[in-house]
Amino acid sequence: MPFNRKVILKSHPRGPVGLDNFDMVEEEIQPLRAGTVCVRVDHLSIDAFIRTTLDGGGFHQSAKLGGVIPALGVGTVVDSAEPSLVVGEIVTGPMCSQTHAVLPAAMCAKVDVTLAPATAFLGALSIATGLTSYVGMKYVARITGGETVVVSGAAGAVGSLAGQVARLLGAGRVIGIAGGPDKCRFLVDELGFDDAIDYKKVDVAAELAQLAPNGVDVFWDNVGGEVLDAVLLNLAVEARVVLCGAVSQYENMADVRGPKNYLKIAERDARLLGFTIFHYPDRHAEATAVMADWLAKGKIVVREHVEHGLERFPAAVRALLDGGNTGKFLLKVD
Ligand SMILES: NC(=O)c1ccc[n+]([C@@H]2O[C@H](COP(=O)([O-])OP(=O)(O)OC[C@H]3O[C@@H](n4cnc5c(N)ncnc54)[C@H](OP(=O)(O)O)[C@@H]3O)[C@@H](O)[C@H]2O)c1
Repeated sequence: MPFNRKVILKSHPRGPVGLDNFDMVEEEIQPLRAGTVCVRVDHLSIDAFIRTTLDGGGFHQSAKLGGVIPALGVGTVVDSAEPSLVVGEIVTGPMCSQTHAVLPAAMCAKVDVTLAPATAFLGALSIATGLTSYVGMKYVARITGGETVVVSGAAGAVGSLAGQVARLLGAGRVIGIAGGPDKCRFLVDELGFDDAIDYKKVDVAAELAQLAPNGVDVFWDNVGGEVLDAVLLNLAVEARVVLCGAVSQYENMADVRGPKNYLKIAERDARLLGFTIFHYPDRHAEATAVMADWLAKGKIVVREHVEHGLERFPAAVRALLDGGNTGKFLLKVD
């Protein structure tokens, strides 16, 4: 068997995560126990939730000091002690920051590459990206025809799909909020959003008041902080604010800042709806089927931002938090 190379957590970040919080080590792969498989990891998904696992008390899972970092991945089975998963099978699961993952076969899902390329199972067909966007828009936001929908973090993995899903579910107008002119052009020119707001350049509240004079019916929030506050000032009566995530807070989870304009929720008879995809297991099959169909028919556009080399894992996490990705951030492990 080959050696496993892995990125481990050397220290918990104090504030912004840095490259010095990680280390790289190599280990021999041990013989498999019954029911487990060894997967050579091909691609890792670089997701915002990874940052929340690094503090030692994350609200998803926690990376242990000296341990690998939680991350979803796709890879190829290279050794198997479980008859239902044979060598050569392509699978997805919690591969973590390493070249070879030894894990229970039950934690791996087979990837049907006739449905979509393997990396789509980390993007449009992944629980943490496409399924989140579909289930959140359909069953949490409960989009109805003609509504004005605003998405923050709109050029990222979840955001870029959430806006497109909203449109496909009947939204009348979709406005994205993202950082920088290139991302805003991507939203309008490639994804078909009606408008995009560059939160790094303009006053978001004032711009939204111009673009959505009748107010925002659904706000899908991926970032929290000042952007959330700006949108709260522009809610329509009976608006729904979907709290998908709050990436602006993930570097400082010990002192999360809530919105100062939260009274607008009462003033506009609005609803603040938190959710995580893990609370909707009975919707995953439907979400996968619908997203796969839309993908096959070209109804949704996915851009992948791919970096190379496991040693780039720490830099990739840093880059995601700095807005370095447009679309789905992937690391080709090589
Ligand atoms: N509820 C659920 O079940 C669920 C499941 C999966 C993901 N999520 C959430 O979905 C959100 C997006 O996650 P993702 O993995 O798809 O990441 P992503 O959107 O691909 O990447 C994160 C993006 O956040 C933006 N960002 C970073 N810091 C920011 C700040 N201070 N203010 C505003 N924007 C900032 C950056 O774009 P800019 O250049 O535009 O700043 C960056 O590209 C996260 O909040 C995540 O926790 C929730």
